[in-house]
Amino acid sequence: VSEFTPVANTSELAPGEMKRVLVDRERILLANVGGSFYALRDNCGHQKAALSKGKLEGKIVECPLHFACFDVTTGEVVSGTDLSRRAIPGLETLGPDAMQALQEVGAIIDDVETEAVPSYQVRIEGETVSVKV
Ligand code: FES
Repeated sequence: VSEFTPVANTSELAPGEMKRVLVDRERILLANVGGSFYALRDNCGHQKAALSKGKLEGKIVECPLHFACFDVTTGEVVSGTDLSRRAIPGLETLGPDAMQALQEVGAIIDDVETEAVPSYQVRIEGETVSVKV
């Protein structure tokens, strides 16, 4: 039977902030959206990058690796990968072979399906944030 596990104090995360917490060895993204707390598995539904290292805007968390976006309140996919947002310094100096290789890798990355991320129940008691894993 899973139980709620205390993971943080409410004062640790201001609205708009998020961080990774651990329950046993499970990596969990804890986010404060407008004063309400939400928890997702801290693995992107694309290739498992840490969403906690991405960006949180409103209730949308953006993966730092290939920029898929998820609704942090549900774990649902909001938008898939977007490799055009990855700045690669010196890209314009690469020759056509290197550019083609990059495009091929990009197509393979884009082809990996992006799935919803599991979400967890959150409970607030006093100033203690607990998550049920
Ligand atoms: S690992 Fe997150 S978008 Fe690819």
